[in-house]
Amino acid sequence: MAPPDSAATLDGAVRWATARLAAAGIEGPGRDARLLVAAALGATQTELILHPERRLTDLERRRVDETVARRCRHEPVSRILGEREFYGRTFKITPDTLDPRPDSETLIEAVLEVVGSEGRKDHPLRILDIGTGTGCLVATLLCELPAAVGVGIDVSPGALEVARCNSQQLGVADRAEFRLQAAAEVCDTFDILVSNPPYIRSSEIAGLAEDVKGFDPAMALDGGFDGLVVYRQIATRLPSVLPAGWAFFEVGDGQADELQHLLKTALMQRIQTSRAWRDLGGRERCVAVELH
Ligand SMILES: C[S@@+](CC[C@H](N)C(=O)[O-])C[C@H]1O[C@@H](n2cnc3c(N)ncnc32)[C@H](O)[C@@H]1O
Repeated sequence: MAPPDSAATLDGAVRWATARLAAAGIEGPGRDARLLVAAALGATQTELILHPERRLTDLERRRVDETVARRCRHEPVSRILGEREFYGRTFKITPDTLDPRPDSETLIEAVLEVVGSEGRKDHPLRILDIGTGTGCLVATLLCELPAAVGVGIDVSPGALEVARCNSQQLGVADRAEFRLQAAAEVCDTFDILVSNPPYIRSSEIAGLAEDVKGFDPAMALDGGFDGLVVYRQIATRLPSVLPAGWAFFEVGDGQADELQHLLKTALMQRIQTSRAWRDLGGRERCVAVELH
């Protein structure tokens, strides 16, 4: 069904979309309406402002309708657009990948702070990213650390394709390798390990918000009975994979203490330093250990 005649211009379409999104209970309906109308028409937001009176064809009106209907069903805007901004760069996302979250930028900040304080920003560091998804962590680090090389592993072949595509788009493909491999199988040695593994307890998945459980792949969310299953697999491999260096992990709310305890138990005297970083909301979001 095409939007009504009142929505036949750019300005009208934005007003109509805003009202429809508001009625569906979407927060910030005006902002989403502008993004979605522009995306449906292949236009920029500037064009919406400069040519409010421009008339839409019937096909364009149908496209606007379909796009807005997806958002009314609580599909995140980034999913509809097929891309997400992470640490100032654009990453392609698909149904095979987690939609990267701004909180995960805490992990990038932590790595850059440590590497910077050690004066190693220009060193040929070897970085391993376990559960790479879109590749947002390893590709961002390769952009920020121009001499580093990185390997991203994941159990999802579809996610690995997206990660390869993103690393090409960002111009770091010649320093990045993506492998179909599980955390428990990881080999080789690295200087830095980063991981944002699935960390939601299996029993909590059903209670997640619709825009998370309905659109992020289950294997990117489900961290097993206590949410820590993949962390345990990584901790077992850490002594051989990271002979000396830092391992950085994203954690969910309230998991920082549990993970620090898990790492201490698994790695005993190998831990030289243990630290945590908070996200912009003040929650402990990144836990790191330095091994020697
Ligand atoms: C929470 S997502 C993180 C994706 C991306 N690193 C990010 O920060 O947006 C976790 C990823 O781990 C992958 N994964 C799940 N279990 C895994 C395992 N046992 N070994 C390796 N990767 C795994 C999932 O397929 C998913 O892509």
